[in-house]
Amino acid sequence: MARYPPDLDRWREAARISAEARELGVSLAVPGASRKEIADRIEAYIRSKGAEPAFPANLSRNVEAAHYTPSREDTERLVAGDLLKVDVGAHLDGAIADTAATVEVGGGQRYALLRRAVEEALAAGIAQIRPGVSVDEIGRAIESAVHRHGLKPVRDLSGHTIERYLLHAGKSIPNVGGLSGATLEEGEVVAVEPFVTNGAGRIQNGPFGNIVRFREDPGPGEPELGRLFRRFRTLPFTLRWVEDAEDRERLRHARRLLQTYPIFEEAGGGVVAQMEHTVLVGKHGPERLTALPD
Ligand code: CO
Repeated sequence: MARYPPDLDRWREAARISAEARELGVSLAVPGASRKEIADRIEAYIRSKGAEPAFPANLSRNVEAAHYTPSREDTERLVAGDLLKVDVGAHLDGAIADTAATVEVGGGQRYALLRRAVEEALAAGIAQIRPGVSVDEIGRAIESAVHRHGLKPVRDLSGHTIERYLLHAGKSIPNVGGLSGATLEEGEVVAVEPFVTNGAGRIQNGPFGNIVRFREDPGPGEPELGRLFRRFRTLPFTLRWVEDAEDRERLRHARRLLQTYPIFEEAGGGVVAQMEHTVLVGKHGPERLTALPD
């Protein structure tokens, strides 16, 4: 039984906007650029197309693998040689796309092998996708593509199925073999996202970052928080998006209702590259929704 979203065109549109936002982010990642300005411009682009960011633009660099988004006050600037992951997503009425690219700031070649390995791993993983495929086959394909380059996949980060308003739905798409017996069905939407490192191949939690998420509806006793909940639902968001200072204060005091994401750092101090596409499990194979036409 196929599981295509009934509004598949909306998913395609969200994916195209996400892909354009990703490329905008890549083009802005030059020495001296501030991560806050890049994030603001990525998210403004998504909104200018009539979509909403599905999560704050993640601009993790070097040993940061994921979950870095700038705060409102962030003044830090990129320097030549940084390896920057641009991981972005847009949604249209809950139809979500999620996509990432890695850029070596300043155009150097120091991390060319990492970038090539992650590109090949992404292609190898996606090539396995078809109705009925075991996600373990995808993980194995990713793992062996990375090992061919003498590098390691980050084994505790994985791709994921996506459902309406659910960025991380039920199934994980591992980046190594042996972790999952799940299979994919025709019509499912999945994000495939290998992470490759020259470090230990594991992550550890760094400091808490600037990405939060409502665990649940605050309920009728909390009307002001309820208004914010209706804006963000259970998708990840950041206080950088909340213009009103009183609302930011309310959210800071509502920690029990919010999940705060730690920044994920490579456990061995390695540098991390990541690429990601949102893919439709088509009847005859994968359709890369976040690939732009050449
Ligand atoms: Co993802």
